[in-house]
Amino acid sequence: MCGIVGYVGAKPAEGVVIEGLRRLEYRGYDSAGIALVDAGSIVSDKRAGKLANLEKAIAESPLPQVTTGIGHTRWATHGPPTDRNAHPHLGRTRRVALVHNGIIENFAELRGRLESEGVEMASDTDTEVAAHLLEEQLETGVDLTVAMQNVCRGLHGAFTLVAVDAQDPDRVVAARRNSPLVVGIGEGENFLGSDVAAFIEHTREAMELDQDQVVTITRDGVSVSGFDGTPAEGRRYHVDWDLSAAEKDGHDWFMRKEIFEQPRAVADSLLGRRGADGLLQLDEMRLSDQDLRDIDKIIIIAAGTSFYAGMVAKYAIEHWCRIPVEVELASEFRYRDPILTSSTLVVAISQSGETADTLQAIRHAREQRSKVLSICNTNGSTIPRESDGVIYTHAGPEIGVASTKGFLTQLVACYLLALYLAQVKGTRYGDEISQVMDQLDRMPAHVQTVLDKSEEVYGLARDHVGSRSVLFLGRHAGYPVALEGALKLKEIAYLHAEGFAAGELKHGPIALVEDGLPILCIVPPRGRDQLHDKMISGIQEVRARGARTLCLAEEGDTAIEPYADVLITLPRVPVLLQPLVAVVPLQLFACELATQLGHDVDQPRNLAKSVTVE
Ligand code: F6R
Repeated sequence: MCGIVGYVGAKPAEGVVIEGLRRLEYRGYDSAGIALVDAGSIVSDKRAGKLANLEKAIAESPLPQVTTGIGHTRWATHGPPTDRNAHPHLGRTRRVALVHNGIIENFAELRGRLESEGVEMASDTDTEVAAHLLEEQLETGVDLTVAMQNVCRGLHGAFTLVAVDAQDPDRVVAARRNSPLVVGIGEGENFLGSDVAAFIEHTREAMELDQDQVVTITRDGVSVSGFDGTPAEGRRYHVDWDLSAAEKDGHDWFMRKEIFEQPRAVADSLLGRRGADGLLQLDEMRLSDQDLRDIDKIIIIAAGTSFYAGMVAKYAIEHWCRIPVEVELASEFRYRDPILTSSTLVVAISQSGETADTLQAIRHAREQRSKVLSICNTNGSTIPRESDGVIYTHAGPEIGVASTKGFLTQLVACYLLALYLAQVKGTRYGDEISQVMDQLDRMPAHVQTVLDKSEEVYGLARDHVGSRSVLFLGRHAGYPVALEGALKLKEIAYLHAEGFAAGELKHGPIALVEDGLPILCIVPPRGRDQLHDKMISGIQEVRARGARTLCLAEEGDTAIEPYADVLITLPRVPVLLQPLVAVVPLQLFACELATQLGHDVDQPRNLAKSVTVE
């Protein structure tokens, strides 16, 4: 996720900005840049790769010692991680420099308009359009604050923008919509940051902004307004976290922070997917409609958590598109001599984009002339580079080794792929696709509802500190959720945990059930009566043998009450989308239990974030 720093004060801005960027490095990035305002002009440098590359460039070609500047670490979304795509971006007369976090959904339309007016784009980013638009506004005679308000009213999506104007050296202006931005309030100096880690060394007085607000900082003041220019007040607060907590947004672990980021991550993954005509658009799909219409079989390959996302994708694709789908562990795929033809679509799911098993599997598929589409969170990584098309998940970097927001956003990408295929193949009507998209748009709020009950789940986790074994039961789309819940517990709490398809119990696993064994049961929504009732029968069976049933079921599901020792309610959502809400309590459960057991949640033993060996 991008990191943003802004500064105006009495100190040399270069040092404050670079140090701020260093404090934001933990967010993950693939390029870095800085812009300073120097006597009527902008001086800027930006480099792909780590901050050290930028620092080396500055050492070779020093920047002026001025006191107003902005900086950025970029996590690529639109366009690969290169020098030219790194931020800041400048307007065509180099009057404005701008950095951005988020996604400007209507950038293609804005870019088209600017290009038709003769503006030459210097990058592939969505950000650059905002720099040109700001400059266009300044040329009408308004100041940078008003220019920012005017530009933001025309932008769709989620964004934090921070800009400077060469002709107004004592002002830095920022705006936010659904993307992080905090103000740091100092004495004779003020700061902007993606989070307080950017300026915590200089001041512990901070100000939080609301959505759709613009903030102007000068040496002596901070003023806030709405995008419509109405004056507003920010909320001031004192930061008493240390740096390590600040990086984690006050949480104890990156994993917990990432679990709580999921409403935002899901919303970001849905941004910009519907065109003005209401049709789904996947900008890096790169496979033609005809290629997709010719597909008669899909094989999904992935590892670990990503594999479970693939299992959910199978249910969605087969239901909405009527195309047969196989889901295969990447590490097994090549060795079974899979039947691949030019009409097979291989979908590789990988958060990191570097997993060796998955990479080798797609290489094998391409040798057999199959088309490969990847679902990936890391722009420019190897798997998307070697694929015919890609759907990026926009979760932002995942730092905790155990995947959480990576999984939820993979699910979103899988639903988008399924709906896109349905649109292209005509297996669902447009209004049916729109209906599911509307349901997906409501999911960030539903995920938030589950997170709001975290204390309930933490209490449950604390009750199970002495458990040596936990089972997970699910059915249909709840089955991969059960597997994922068990994987989380194994990975970070080092407990014996197994996920089962509820219907399989009586074929063996029920022998494991003994008095007091905790079983987490994911109860499907009631719409599909048989599914729901069959799940309840399975729960009755284990409870009759002494299991302690910890049930996740939709609110209003009274049928489960007699069989649930503990009931955690989930928002009411369609059955195929339920994994998006049902997995969240399981992530919280594992995170809290591992914390209580004293384990290092972010760096579990024997595990690496990216598994680059087969
Ligand atoms: C589980 C986890 C792993 C990964 C697996 C695949 O929490 O993180 O199981 O899901 O190693 O990694 P990617 O998705 O990067 O290919």
